[in-house]
Amino acid sequence: MLPSELVKYKEDSRKIVALTAWDSISGSLAEQSDADLILVGDSLAMVCLGYKSTLPITLDNIIYHTNAVSRGFNKKIDEQPLIVCDMPFLTYQCGENKAVEYAGKIIQNTYAKAVKIEGAEPEIQSVISRLIRMGIPVMGHLGLTPQSYLNLGLKKQGQNLESQEKIKREASILEKLGCFSIVLEHIPEFLAKEIKENLKIPIIGIGAGDHCDGQIRVTADLLGLNEDQPPFCKPIIEGKKLFKKSLKEWVASERLK
Ligand code: KIV
Repeated sequence: MLPSELVKYKEDSRKIVALTAWDSISGSLAEQSDADLILVGDSLAMVCLGYKSTLPITLDNIIYHTNAVSRGFNKKIDEQPLIVCDMPFLTYQCGENKAVEYAGKIIQNTYAKAVKIEGAEPEIQSVISRLIRMGIPVMGHLGLTPQSYLNLGLKKQGQNLESQEKIKREASILEKLGCFSIVLEHIPEFLAKEIKENLKIPIIGIGAGDHCDGQIRVTADLLGLNEDQPPFCKPIIEGKKLFKKSLKEWVASERLK
């Protein structure tokens, strides 16, 4: 699937369902679940590599993990989900030329067909515009943007009028720049709904209520694999507890043989 086809989902009132993946097992699970889009998000820093934030992820890390994810796919190429790859911290905040070089490396060395970029500050806007003109589709990301956590923390955004107006303004700018969709993370439901209704491109929510054009979740959160669960993701199974218990039982039973 191409990013432009995702825009058709909104035109056809078809819900988009997206998952993250970080290796071939999670890639295979996400693909077999029939998700429309798989994000190789920089959250892999925390859910797979044991870091405390997304900031340590490098370009080489994201390329390495994206290739592992697509090696887990089993479907025929034209039935596979769209892979979108996060641009790591400081690979697009460092000027247009570097951003084109780094996004180009992701596109040339993986099966990702688009990159995701956090924020919409003026410097970021010019980077997004340049990438799109150079033929690299861009997904935006507003609201809680984990790469800005040193400034903003990891708290819910859009909690006052000023912040709500900023998010609305930036979402419109991202659409005008040519982003094919926007992730809205951890913002009030009414705000996500208003943005979704005012824009033509799909709004994909995480912790942004049920009124978005689609939903995305960090697969490890959904499966209950993490110690620290974000407040906006209720696990569908208690994966960590279940695996721990099963492995403990196996180890104990082997000892008895
Ligand atoms: O890195 C990530 O997994 C993300 C999602 C939270 C959307 O950006």
